[in-house]
Amino acid sequence: MHKQILIATVTKLFENNKGLLAMDESIVTCNKRFAKLGIPQTVEMRRKYRELLITTPGLNESISGAILFDETSRQQKADGTPFIKILIDAGIVPGIKVDIGAKPLAGFPGEKVTEGLDGLRKRLVEYQEMGARFAKWRAVLTIGDGIPSSACIEANAHSLARYAALCQEVGLVPIVEPEVMMLGDHSLAQCRQVTSDVLNHVFAQLHQQKVLLEGIILKPNMVISGSENKKHHSIEEVAEATINCLLESVPANVPGIAFLSGGQSAEEATANLNAMNRLYKSKVPWKLTFSFGRALQQPTLEIWKGDDATVVTAQKALYHRAKCNAAATRGEYDVSMENDSITNH
Ligand code: 13P
Repeated sequence: MHKQILIATVTKLFENNKGLLAMDESIVTCNKRFAKLGIPQTVEMRRKYRELLITTPGLNESISGAILFDETSRQQKADGTPFIKILIDAGIVPGIKVDIGAKPLAGFPGEKVTEGLDGLRKRLVEYQEMGARFAKWRAVLTIGDGIPSSACIEANAHSLARYAALCQEVGLVPIVEPEVMMLGDHSLAQCRQVTSDVLNHVFAQLHQQKVLLEGIILKPNMVISGSENKKHHSIEEVAEATINCLLESVPANVPGIAFLSGGQSAEEATANLNAMNRLYKSKVPWKLTFSFGRALQQPTLEIWKGDDATVVTAQKALYHRAKCNAAATRGEYDVSMENDSITNH
C-alpha cells in the first residue's frame, strides 16, 4: 500500500479550507440535466460544459479536487489541452468516478446495489497513469417502507470496502460515498437512524478489508428530513443531528468528511455545512468540507444553457458558489455573501 502517497493526497484535498467539485455525472445523468434546460445532449455539449467548469478563473482558490467521469477524463479543451492537464496545472487534483452505477438489487424490489468491481483493478491502474489521484464510488440507500433492508446495506458496504482496498493498492485515495437518499417523506430522525446504521456497516467492512482509514475520504449525506416531508428543521438542528450521527459512527482516524449535497438547494447545502463548521469544528476529529455536484453546478448550468455567450457569467456563478462553500468550511459563510453580485469579483 502507498501509505505516504495516500496521506499526501488527502492532505492536499483538505488544504486551506478548500473542497471538491463533483462533476462526474454519468452520460445519462448529464443528458437528463441538459434536457431539462433544452441543451442538446451531445458529446460536444458535454465537453463544452466541462471545459467551462474547469477553466473557471480562480476556481483553485476554493476547489482542491475535481471528480471526473470516464468520458470527461479523456476529453480536451478546444485547443487540444487534456482536461486532466488543465486541472493539474491549476493545482486541482483530478479524481475519477469508478463505479458503473447503482443497479436493481436482485430479490429486493426498490433497492439498489452499486456495480463495477469486475475489472476494477485494471481500470484503476489506467486512471492512475492518466493522472488521477483519487476515486469515487457511490452507493445508494433509499428510505421507504421496510427499506433499506440489511441485505442492501451489507451488499453496498461490502462493495464500497472492496473498491476502497483496490484503490489504495494503486495509490488512489478512495472517496467512500454511501448516500442515504433525500427522496421520500421520512423524518430527520429516520434519516439519522438509517445513516448511522449504514455508516456502521461501512466502517465494519472497511476494517475487515484492511482499508487504511487515514487514506480515505468519507462522502456522506447530511442528516435531513425527506424531500416530501413537510416538517421544517432549522440549520442548527440539521447540523446537530448530522454531527451527532457522524460522531457515533465515524472513527476519529478518518481524516476528513466531504459532504454530498443530495438535492438540497445550493444555498441550503452551503448554510448547513457552515453551521456544522461554525458550531462543531473544534469538537470533531475530522475536517468537514464539501464535495457537491448540484449545489455547486446548478446555478452555472442554468445560466449557461448551452449558449457560448453566457460562459463568462456562468463561470462567475461557479466561482461564487465555490467561494461561499469554502467560507462554509471555515464557518464564516453568511447569507449576505449571496448578495455580492456574481459579476462583482
Ligand atoms: P450532489 O452534490 O448533487 O448530491 O452530487 C454529489 C455526488 O457526487 C453524487 O455522487
